Amino acid sequence: MNTRRSFFINTLTTASALAAAKSANIETRFAKKDWRGITREDLPTPSMVLDLDLFEKNLSHMASSCKATGLSFRGHVKIHKSTDIAKRQVALGAIGVTVATEAEAELMSASGIRGVLLTRQPAGKEKTTRVVELTKRDPSFITIVDDPWMAEQLDQAAAAARTKVNTIVDINAGLKRAGIEPGQKALALAQDVSRRKNLNFLGLMAYSGGASHTKGWETRRVQSMADIKGMLETAELCKKAGIPVQIRTGGSTGTYNIDPGYLTELQAGSYMFMDTGYIKIGSKAGNEIYDDFAQSLTILTTIIVRQHPGTATIDCGVKGMLKPTDTVKGRPDVKVENQGAEYGILVWKDGDRDYRLGDKVELYPTHLDSTTNVYDRYYIAKGDRIVDAWPVMGRAGAAQR
Ligand SMILES: Cc1ncc(COP(=O)(O)O)c(C=O)c1O
Repeated sequence: MNTRRSFFINTLTTASALAAAKSANIETRFAKKDWRGITREDLPTPSMVLDLDLFEKNLSHMASSCKATGLSFRGHVKIHKSTDIAKRQVALGAIGVTVATEAEAELMSASGIRGVLLTRQPAGKEKTTRVVELTKRDPSFITIVDDPWMAEQLDQAAAAARTKVNTIVDINAGLKRAGIEPGQKALALAQDVSRRKNLNFLGLMAYSGGASHTKGWETRRVQSMADIKGMLETAELCKKAGIPVQIRTGGSTGTYNIDPGYLTELQAGSYMFMDTGYIKIGSKAGNEIYDDFAQSLTILTTIIVRQHPGTATIDCGVKGMLKPTDTVKGRPDVKVENQGAEYGILVWKDGDRDYRLGDKVELYPTHLDSTTNVYDRYYIAKGDRIVDAWPVMGRAGAAQR
């Protein structure tokens, strides 16, 4: 073998051995929580990366805004599914968390978080039983109901288990997906829940999903007020009927500075990461960019093919939850296209700013809940350095049900 060829083969062997060692190393580092010397460049892709400084700024801005306006905070878990994040929120003053599923409720409660509010009613024997069992383990747990039959089922299950379930009545706030009609019907349900021996009526919920991403702060305010008006009127009816309404819960990242005075607590979730839709809804100060919170979460990808001018292939597609509405960090001129399970395409015009094979590219995700749901951890970055990794929990199969 000539010396040039053997040098080439040796170099290749050493490089691939190093690469293998490095990727195994990431798992060892994860197990040992030892991130010394690891940067974004060293991570396997696609991966989720959380910018710690931006994330912490988002968390503390929300916490201080809620404190200043007298709004309690019970942030939604379905966006992040992380006990590390929930615990940080609680440390900053959150009174609990809101969750979408029984599995999330059990996960959060088992991690020691108190004040878990389930925002989807537990219909059907299996879900009702789980909620009652959870109440026995954790009396601070709260669920919602929007139907007299649900109230009856819950009451009976609670009676059989000799417990009392904290219950909030869910009022329709625009979205067809849930919530009893406000007014007399909702009042009757609140009275029904209040009379039941094994339910503890705490208040009302109205989640205005239609307002959250509405563009322009004033338009958003009008939409939000219209959506929660029925709940506020029902609260008045309850008061007149002698039923104390301790809690009025709802709200989102888009309405956190609209809800104070109307809601007693806020369920916002996306603010900590921000999605590509939220960033465009406009701020109260009149900025087109909703800059109250920063985009702290990215999907780190690698350029794996460079065959056509102004076009590059990345290693993230349907399985990585890539969407054409995703945007590229630092390159707003680049368009994102989905090309199948494991491929995405980046398209741009500016020849001076070409990507090279092997370059790392970070994408801002569009739909946070489904994106975080397919990655198993957040790599926590301080600048370019990786300083920690937090697991995303209860993501699939039995753990998710
Ligand atoms: C019931 C409920 N509350 C709160 C939220 C949080 O909203 P956001 O992530 O827009 O802040 C959601 C999100 O979809 C929700 O479904």
